[in-house]
Amino acid sequence: MTGHPRTVLVTGSAGLIGGILARRLGDRYVLRGFDRRPGPLLGPVGDLADPVALATACRGVDAIVHLAGESRVDAPWAAVLSNNIAGTAALFEAARLEGVDRVVFASSNHVVGQLEVEGAPGIYDGSGGRIIGADEPFHPDSLYGVSKAFGETLGRYYSNRHGLRVVCLRLGSVLRDDDPWLEAQRLGGDTTPNHRRFRATWLSHRDCAELVVAALEADVRFAVAYGVSANRRHFWDLGPAERLLGFRPLDAAPDNPT
Ligand SMILES: NC(=O)c1ccc[n+]([C@@H]2O[C@H](COP(=O)([O-])OP(=O)(O)OC[C@H]3O[C@@H](n4cnc5c(N)ncnc54)[C@H](O)[C@@H]3O)[C@@H](O)[C@H]2O)c1
Repeated sequence: MTGHPRTVLVTGSAGLIGGILARRLGDRYVLRGFDRRPGPLLGPVGDLADPVALATACRGVDAIVHLAGESRVDAPWAAVLSNNIAGTAALFEAARLEGVDRVVFASSNHVVGQLEVEGAPGIYDGSGGRIIGADEPFHPDSLYGVSKAFGETLGRYYSNRHGLRVVCLRLGSVLRDDDPWLEAQRLGGDTTPNHRRFRATWLSHRDCAELVVAALEADVRFAVAYGVSANRRHFWDLGPAERLLGFRPLDAAPDNPT
């Protein structure tokens, strides 16, 4: 099978991005879910650590969007190890064994997060003068970032050695309220630093869903791309998503609270 999947498994389907994809992509694909808690998509409830449940989930699907995992940047090693490292390894192996054509891996900007840390605060308002490319060496800022670098590396291995199509999306900030200012307020405390970051790193729900579609449809064997809306103050390179996946964001964060 090349190019045009019909049946797509979404792991982590009960989470934030899983819910966004369930709402926005259900009319384009036959979506199936897999998560350790019940969610909006039909499919087995189970853990990535359960090979039987995982094989059942992967059987007969054309592509997998792999979202399941520990999503807290400050998560401790035990959670990162089991959910993101062992869990992602189990997912790629199940995809291979079940003959799945393509895996879209939810990577993260935190694989190069240390460059952002070192560029702050100027990087958030453009005075850092820096656009971070997808070919930068890994500079993780956390064990979470390390685990996403591992997932990308594993994806490259499965693509090179086993012929899977693999697209790694280094997602920016997908926000519950889908608005940088509202999200900063929701988090409480001093809203200014969070708002400054979110208006540079925001990936809107609409852009997130369309980026996943582009990753599912692109004629590529392996790709790494940042996922960020066309925010005026963005500092990750939008080029790879456009060149490799044909994706152009439609949304852009307002500069100021609306
Ligand atoms: N939200 C963002 O801004 C953002 C940014 C960059 C990357 N990501 C990545 O995208 C993915 C989805 O993010 P999200 O915000 O929807 O996270 P989330 O925490 O809302 O959802 C993650 C889901 O994965 C499930 N899960 C975790 N470990 C599992 C396991 N071992 N077995 C089965 N299910 C398991 C959880 O139950 C949860 O429903 C994550 O991998 C995250 O690291 C998210």
